Amino acid sequence: TAPAAVIVAIDGPAGTGKSSTSKAVAAKLGLGYLDTGAQYRAITWWMVNNGIDVEDATAVADAAGKPGIVSGTDPANPTITVDGVDVSGPIRTQEVTSKVSAVSAVPEVRARITELQRTIATEAPRGIVVEGRDIGTTVLPDADVKIFLTASAEARAARRSGELRGKDAADLAATQAALAKRDAADSGRKTSPLAKADDAIEVDTTELTLEQVIECVVTLVEEKRSA
Ligand code: DC
Repeated sequence: TAPAAVIVAIDGPAGTGKSSTSKAVAAKLGLGYLDTGAQYRAITWWMVNNGIDVEDATAVADAAGKPGIVSGTDPANPTITVDGVDVSGPIRTQEVTSKVSAVSAVPEVRARITELQRTIATEAPRGIVVEGRDIGTTVLPDADVKIFLTASAEARAARRSGELRGKDAADLAATQAALAKRDAADSGRKTSPLAKADDAIEVDTTELTLEQVIECVVTLVEEKRSA
C-alpha cells in the first residue's frame, strides 16, 4: 500500500537554510513544498503596489482579503501568483523584505494566509514540506515531523548575502543588522510569533553543510514513516 501522507514542518529565522533544505527534502521524498514566507511576501507586494501604508494596521487588515494568492507546490518549480500575476521575482526586492514583518504581524493577514496553508497541506496527496515561522506551533500543530533550524547570526548573514567572497564587511554588517531587525519583529509580534514548538527537533546548521542538513531531515522523516 502507498505510504500515508506525511506532513513536515520546518521553522526557523531567516538565513538558516530553510528554503534550500525544504525544497531538497521534498524533492527527495516525492512530497509537495510550500514556502509560506513567499505568501506573506506576496500579500506585502500587493499592499505596496496598491498604495497601502504597511504601518497602518487597520488599512492592512481591511485589505487582507483582497489579493488572490495561489502557491504551486512542486519543489522543482515553486510558483507564486497574485491575481494571476507571477510575483516570484518582485517579492524578493529589498522593499518587500523590509515591509513584510509589519504586514505579517496583522492578525487578519495571518488568519487568511493560515487558512490557505492548511488547505494546501491537507490537499497534498503524498504529503508536503511546509517552511515558515509558525508552522509547527500554529498552522500545523499535528505535523508528523517538526524541525526548528537555527544558525549563528554571522552564519545567517553570510548565507543571506550570498557568497562570502566578493562581499565587503559593510555589506555583511548591513545584512546582519537587517536580519536581526526582521527576526526581532517576527519573534516579538503578538500573533503566532516565530517560535520553536515544544515537540520540534532543533538543528543548529552553523557548522553543517546544506547536504548534511538535508540528510538529517530526510532521516528524521524516514524514521517517522517506518515507526
Ligand atoms: O521566509 P522569508 O524570509 O521569505 O519570510 C518573509 C517574512 O514572512 C518573515 O520575515 C516573516 C513572515 N513569515 C511569517 O510571519 N510566518 C511564516 N510562517 C513565514 C513567514
